[in-house]
Amino acid sequence: MPDKVAYAVHDMIAVLRIQNPPVNALSQAVRQGLSDAMDRAEADDAVHAVVIVGDGRAFIAGADITEFGKPPMEPNLPDLCTRIEQSPLLVVASMHGVSLGGGLEVALGCHYRVAQPSARVGLPEVHLGILPGAGGTQRLPRVAGAANAVDAITTGRHIKADEAQKMGIIDRIEEGDPQEVGIAYAMDLLSENAPRRPVSEMPAPEGIDWDAKYDAVLKKGRGQISPATAVRAVQAASELPFDEGMKRERELFMELMDTDQRKGLIHAFFNERAVSNLPELKGVEPRHLQSVGIIGGGTMGAGIATAALLAGLEVVLIETGEEQATAARGRIEGNLQGALKRGKISQQKFDALITVALTVSVKYDSLKDVDLAIEAVFEDMAVKHEVFAKLDATCKPGCVLATNTSYLDVNEIAAATSRPEDVIGLHFFSPAHVMKLLEVVVADKTAPDVVATGFALGKMLGKVSVRAGVCDGFIGNRILAVYRTAADHMVLDGASPYQIDRALTNFGFAMGPFAVADLAGLDIGWATRKRKAPHRHPEERVPTYIDKLCEQGHFGQKTGEGYYVYTEGQRGGKPNPKIAELIAAEQRERGISPREFSDEEIVHRYMCAMVNEAAKVVGEGIARRPLDVDMTLLFGYGFPRYWGGPMKWADIQGLPKVLAAIEGYAEEDAWFWQPAPLLQKLVDEGRSFDDLNKAER
Ligand code: CAA
Ligand code: NAI
Repeated sequence: MPDKVAYAVHDMIAVLRIQNPPVNALSQAVRQGLSDAMDRAEADDAVHAVVIVGDGRAFIAGADITEFGKPPMEPNLPDLCTRIEQSPLLVVASMHGVSLGGGLEVALGCHYRVAQPSARVGLPEVHLGILPGAGGTQRLPRVAGAANAVDAITTGRHIKADEAQKMGIIDRIEEGDPQEVGIAYAMDLLSENAPRRPVSEMPAPEGIDWDAKYDAVLKKGRGQISPATAVRAVQAASELPFDEGMKRERELFMELMDTDQRKGLIHAFFNERAVSNLPELKGVEPRHLQSVGIIGGGTMGAGIATAALLAGLEVVLIETGEEQATAARGRIEGNLQGALKRGKISQQKFDALITVALTVSVKYDSLKDVDLAIEAVFEDMAVKHEVFAKLDATCKPGCVLATNTSYLDVNEIAAATSRPEDVIGLHFFSPAHVMKLLEVVVADKTAPDVVATGFALGKMLGKVSVRAGVCDGFIGNRILAVYRTAADHMVLDGASPYQIDRALTNFGFAMGPFAVADLAGLDIGWATRKRKAPHRHPEERVPTYIDKLCEQGHFGQKTGEGYYVYTEGQRGGKPNPKIAELIAAEQRERGISPREFSDEEIVHRYMCAMVNEAAKVVGEGIARRPLDVDMTLLFGYGFPRYWGGPMKWADIQGLPKVLAAIEGYAEEDAWFWQPAPLLQKLVDEGRSFDDLNKAER
C-alpha cells in the first residue's frame, strides 16, 4: 500500500502531504502516517517548521466515516491533534477544498492556518448524529468565540474562507498551489520569529445563556439530539480548563456514538450516495442530454421546467392553447423569481433563462430536436396515450420519452409508441424544483441507456434518484397509501387526527398525515376513493366521514377548511370542530366504541404498516434494495432523517419485534395486516434489511 502521508523536506520546512483519495478522510493509515511524519520532522535538526497539506481536491473531509461503529484503532484523532499541537516545531495547515470535521480539528491542532480563497471549513458532525470529537468543541470557541462556535457546530454549515477568516478560524487567505502557499507562509512566520501558538492555551471563550441556547437548539432539531448535546460540549470549553473540557467532549461524543440516531444518520449519508449507484448501470453510457421538452405546464410541468432551466438545460414546453401557454410561462417565471429573490441566480441570469433558454409553444413540432421529453399532462390514460402517440411521431430517433405519471402503468403508456425501449417514468415530487426525490420508473422494455439517462438527468438537477419498478404508485405512493390507511383506521377506532399528527411530528416527520392531506387537497383522496370503490375488497375498511366534508366543497388549505381551519395570513390551522362530529357519527353508524390510543401505539402501527408494505415492495422487486425505500421516504415524504428510513427503523427495532406486532394487529384485521413474505423470511433466517443492502453491493 502506498504511503497515505508523503514526507518531503524543502529548506527548513517538512511537508506532510495527505494522499487518501477521494477526499483525504482520516483513516487509521492517515492518522498513523501523520503521527509518524511528525516524529520524523521533529527528529530532523534541519527542520524548523511543518506544513500539512492535502493532495487532490480537499485538505481533509473528516474522520473516515466507514470506521464508525467498529473497534477504535490507534492513534485516535484527539490524541493526534494534541500531538501536533504539542510539537516543538511550528506547524502550519495549508487548506484547500473542504476541511471538515476531523479535518478542521487537525487544522485547529496546528499553530497557524492559511487557506485558498475557495476553501470551505466546517464541523458537520451533528448531521451524522455525533459532535466534533477531536477537540473541535474546545478549540473552535477559543479562536472564534462561543456564539460563533455554537452556530457553526450546531448547524454544521460550511463556512467560506473569507467568513472563516473574519471569525478567526483562518489566519491568512492566499491563492496558489496549496503546498507553495503553505511553505511561503511558514517561511514568513519563521522569519518573523512568530511563536508556536497552541489554541488550547488561548483563553477560554466567554459564557452565554447556555440553558436557553440548549433549549432553542433542541426545539429546532425536531427530535434530533446531536446539535443540542454539542451546545453542552461548547459550554464545557467556556467553564472548564482545556483538559477537563476535552474529557467532557469525549464523554458526550461517546454517548452520541451509541445512539440509534447516529446509526440512522450514517445510514442516510452513505445510502444517499449508494442509491444512484446501480450495479446494472456499470459501464452503460447515458444518452446525450442538452435540451428537454416538457408537455403540460401545470404544477408539475412548470416545476420540472424550472429545475431544468436552473441546471443549465434548454427547455421547450408545450401547452394546449395560448392561454394555457401564458399561464405556464407565468408559473415558471414565478418560480424563477423565487430563485432570484433568494440570491440563487442574478437578474442577468434570470433574463437569459426566460428569454433564451425557455421556449413555450403550442406546437408539438417544436419538440423535434429535444434530447428528452417529459410528459406532465392530466392523470388520464387516454390523454397520456394521445400525447405519447404525438411524441412518437415528432421526436427524433433516440429521444428519451418520459412520463411523470403518479400511478398509471408505464408499460401501457409505452405501448402507445413504436419505441417502448425509449420510454421511462420520471416521477418528480411537488414542488418539482424543490423536492429532492426522483423516482426513475423502469418499464419492461426500457433500454439500459435510457435508465442511465434518467439517472444522469437526476444528477444534473441535483436530485436523489431511486430506481423503481412498475406498479400502482411505484415505491413511494404505494407505501404511502398503506400507512395512510393505517392512520385512517386509527381514527375510526378512536384516535383523533390531531393526536396522530402530533404523535408523528414528535416522532420526527415534517408534517402529520392529516396536515399533509389538507395541503395536497382533500379532493385528491376523495377522487381516488371513488375510483377504487368498484374494485374494493369487502373486508377493506375505508372511512367516509371526510367525504362528507368534501361534498360540502371543503378541500383543505386551498378552500380554507379541511381537517384544520385556516385563517388567511396565519401559519398552520386549528382543528376543525366539524371533524370530531363527523367521526363520531360514522363510529355510531358502524357500531364502533372508540378507544384510547397512546402516542407510542400510533407511531408503532403507522411505522409497522409502512415497513410491511415496504417489505412487499422490495420482495416483489419494485424496489431493488431496502435502501431504495429508505431514500424514497427520506427525500420525498418528510421521513425523519435521523431514523435513516423505515427499513433502517425496522432493523433498529429488530425485525422479530416488528413482525410480532404485525401479527398481533392482524388478529383484529387480518385483511389489512397480512405480513410481508420477505419480512417473515428475514426473521426466519435471522437477517436484517441492511444485510440485503450489503448483499447487493
Ligand atoms: N469518510 C469516508 N468516506 C467519505 C467521507 C468521510 N468523511 N467523506 C466523503 N466520503 C466518500 C463518499 O462516501 C463518496 O464515496 P463514493 O464515491 O464511494 O460514493 C466519496 O467520498 C466522494 O464523496 P461525495 O460523493 O460526497 O463528493 P462531493 O464532492 O459531493 O462532497 C464532501 C465531498 C463535501 C467532502 C462530502 O462527501 C461530505 O460532506 N463528506 C462528509 C464530511 C463530514 O461529515 N465530515 C465529518 C466526519 S465526522 C468527524 O470528522 C468526526 C470527528 O470529529 C471524530
Ligand atoms: P395540472 O392539472 O396542474 O397540469 C396539467 C397541465 O397539462 C395543464 O396545464 C394542461 O393544460 C396541460 N395539458 C393537458 N393535456 C395536454 C396536452 N395534450 N398537451 C399539452 N398539455 C396538456 O397537473 P399536475 O399536478 O401538474 O400533474 C401532471 C402530472 O403529474 C399528472 O400525471 C400527475 O399525476 C403527475 N404528478 C403530480 C404531482 C402533484 O403533486 N401534483 C406529483 C407527481 C406527479
